[in-house]
Amino acid sequence: MLVVMDIDTKLQPQTRIQRLKASTDGTHRQLDQRIMGADPFASRERYGLFLRVQHQFHADVAPLYRSTDLNRMLPGLGERCRLEALRQDLADITGNEADSLEGQADALDLPKALGWVYVAEGSNLGAAFLLKEAEKLGLSEEFGARHLAGHPAGRGLHWRNFVASFNALPLSEAEETEAAEGARAAFRRVHGLVDDIFG
Ligand code: HEM
Repeated sequence: MLVVMDIDTKLQPQTRIQRLKASTDGTHRQLDQRIMGADPFASRERYGLFLRVQHQFHADVAPLYRSTDLNRMLPGLGERCRLEALRQDLADITGNEADSLEGQADALDLPKALGWVYVAEGSNLGAAFLLKEAEKLGLSEEFGARHLAGHPAGRGLHWRNFVASFNALPLSEAEETEAAEGARAAFRRVHGLVDDIFG
């Protein structure tokens, strides 16, 4: 069910992305607090744990970024995938080649998959803040924090292009509800990874 305010429809978010954001705000806030509470920027070692969380999540969604159907729906999706940048970040930090991880989100139906992709793409917005923290550890878009880089054309513009395609998709109400379930499942997955990896 979408988290909208039935009592006053004027308060209902207007666009699909705004509705997705509203229905995941709580879990996003908790995740943000959980991650920052785990001090991921206290040292390169702590940051390495954050990288492992990100690596597994982006391995999960990588098959979605390769999907022909999803690329037809969201043009250029494949080029947005950050898995390779994460592998390089891990190699920068650890000095070893990153493990090849299996994804866990490739058997999803399309509406749910859209929800997962929304979460992965949206996380690049918050990444602007995370990159500033990583820079205090001597990391950069060229070393150790490649996956947090903005797009050369601008982080905001890149996101707005994604939002425009996403909002224009012809989804039924039921499919949008499924997309929201997919988004919440993606956040649950990241919560689980943070618990497993940060302990
Ligand atoms: C400590 C970690 C995090 C912080 C501080 C953070 C912070 C933020 C901030 C400030 C924004 C809004 C940026 C803007 O509107 O310009 C944002 C957006 C977003 N973040 Fe995070 N984030 C964190 C981690 C994550 C993670 C791990 C995920 C998911 C894997 C995630 C998913 C999202 C999504 C989906 C949005 C887009 C919301 C929308 O506008 O629709 N974030 N984040």
